[in-house]
Amino acid sequence: MKSENIKQIHLAVFASGGGSNAKALTMFFKNHDFIKVSLFLTNNPQSGVVTLGTEYNIPVRVISGKNLEESSVIAPLLKEFCIDYLVLAGFLKKIPDHLIKTYPDKIFNIHPSLLPKYGGKGMYGHFVHEAVKNSGDDRSGCTVHLVNEEYDKGRILHQTEIPVKGDMSAEDIAAAVLKEEHLCFAPVIESYIRILEGL
Ligand code: GRF
Repeated sequence: MKSENIKQIHLAVFASGGGSNAKALTMFFKNHDFIKVSLFLTNNPQSGVVTLGTEYNIPVRVISGKNLEESSVIAPLLKEFCIDYLVLAGFLKKIPDHLIKTYPDKIFNIHPSLLPKYGGKGMYGHFVHEAVKNSGDDRSGCTVHLVNEEYDKGRILHQTEIPVKGDMSAEDIAAAVLKEEHLCFAPVIESYIRILEGL
């Protein structure tokens, strides 16, 4: 049962693609005591979060990259939904400095490699997994980290490793990593928020 006295924490989930991480977050926080997915933001009208929002009754806003840069557009939107934390779940646009200043240490990202390996500009999706495959590394994984001004350089909160066997294709690696992403992202966010908010 939800306690009346606990402050509600509202998350905005940003996604550009399929939205499977957004779905895992939605399921995890669906009946949560004090954390709620309150808004989906996407730069892509075809993103999976558009249908996910309809299915779970979560508002969705499609924003252009240009609008994202404009604090006069984004700030009122985040205020309207009382957003406390931002979660990047496969969001391909760079987060502008104005959001990093408004949400210091309150923006999470998940990256499909063991950062600092295979991070930075241009390292996303299949590029990451192909680079891992070509490197001959015997492990990969995912990283949950805080977002700062530099791509994939914020403080690491968690990493899950997976073994990479010689016969695995880049697609096999991607699938194995994604499975782990779905398991770890929400619990890491939850424990970080609990600590930060003293809940
Ligand atoms: C995930 O691999 C995530 O790590 C990366 O983009 C992918 C998004 O997948 N940042 P999905 O849209 O959540 O299915």
